[in-house]
Amino acid sequence: MIVLGVETTCDETACAIVKNGEQILSNVISTQIDLHNEYGGVVPELACRRHVDVLIPVIDEALTQAQVTLSDVDVLAVSYGPGLVGPLLIGVNAVKALAIALNKPFVGVNHIEAHLYAAYMSRAKSLTFPAIGVVISGGHTSLVLIKDIGVYELLGQTIDDAIGEAFDKVAKILNLPYPGGPEIEKLALHGDSAAYPFKAGVVKEKPLYFSFSGLKTSVLYTLKGQNAQNATFTLTEAQQANIAASFQKAALSDVVNKTLLAAKKHHCSQILFGGGVTNNQRLREMFLEANPHLDYVWPSLGLSLDNAAMIAGLGFHVFKKKGCGDPLDLEVCTSLGF
Ligand code: KG4
Ligand code: ZN
Repeated sequence: MIVLGVETTCDETACAIVKNGEQILSNVISTQIDLHNEYGGVVPELACRRHVDVLIPVIDEALTQAQVTLSDVDVLAVSYGPGLVGPLLIGVNAVKALAIALNKPFVGVNHIEAHLYAAYMSRAKSLTFPAIGVVISGGHTSLVLIKDIGVYELLGQTIDDAIGEAFDKVAKILNLPYPGGPEIEKLALHGDSAAYPFKAGVVKEKPLYFSFSGLKTSVLYTLKGQNAQNATFTLTEAQQANIAASFQKAALSDVVNKTLLAAKKHHCSQILFGGGVTNNQRLREMFLEANPHLDYVWPSLGLSLDNAAMIAGLGFHVFKKKGCGDPLDLEVCTSLGF
């Protein structure tokens, strides 16, 4: 079964063609980093305009690279949430239009669930459930128990900022470009992670929940003092690197500790990871340092950041499970969860 997937939840316009949920025939991603860089974050209106401009060329390119035509496609899949409402509407309506024009079924796919499926696609043959799933991206921080593809139990999530968002905001405080995650990781290589006693939040009576907004604020107060709105500051390169390293250690060790606690509690030895923050090499080292005996399943190159291969891949299973497509009145869902 050939599935054409479309992804437009935030600032990437992507289309991929995937066969039988596993074989990636093409995976085209048009990123908007250039557009949002000067604002230090995604500007929804600009994102929408860019999606409208590039979506059809991106779909054409995915078909060309996969050497298939629209008539070879069996099912269409699109992320219908969570995400920004404008960008979501563009992808979902484009796919609905294609479904009508081609008289083919389409399914809506949960974007966060697809991030975990990206790890699954990277190693499908050797995985056993239950496993722990960890989604760490610009918009999400979730810990789940994966009982099967499409069957999850939410164990914990952030009550405020997502972890990637915290990286992006701290990078902005340090005057680094967007997206901040890779910049902080680079800077942290030269810093002392014990220089500042930063800590991620603890959520009362919910040991597997996350909170990163206080961590971000303590970085700001450390730099500017309590009068954070007005104060200005200058930093030496060494201070900047120490702040990056100390923040990164606080944020990542929180993910490591809570994930390992969840694995122990649910007797899981396999952990699947999804989302852009999985690109952080220090995170991968920290998991190995903390417990070298667990099986860590990371998304392969091209599948960690937002992409449509994970949407088409999971779309295959969603369609098979439902046995039919979704109705044309399927609404986008900005806060879709597990
Ligand atoms: O998965 P993704 O493309 O977007 C969402 O679905 O939200 O992830 C983007 C996020 C950004 O916040 C970016 O700063 C973060 O992933 N990121 C990283 C690294 N590379 C990307 N964070 C930490 N270290 C990295 N190397
Ligand atoms: Zn994402």
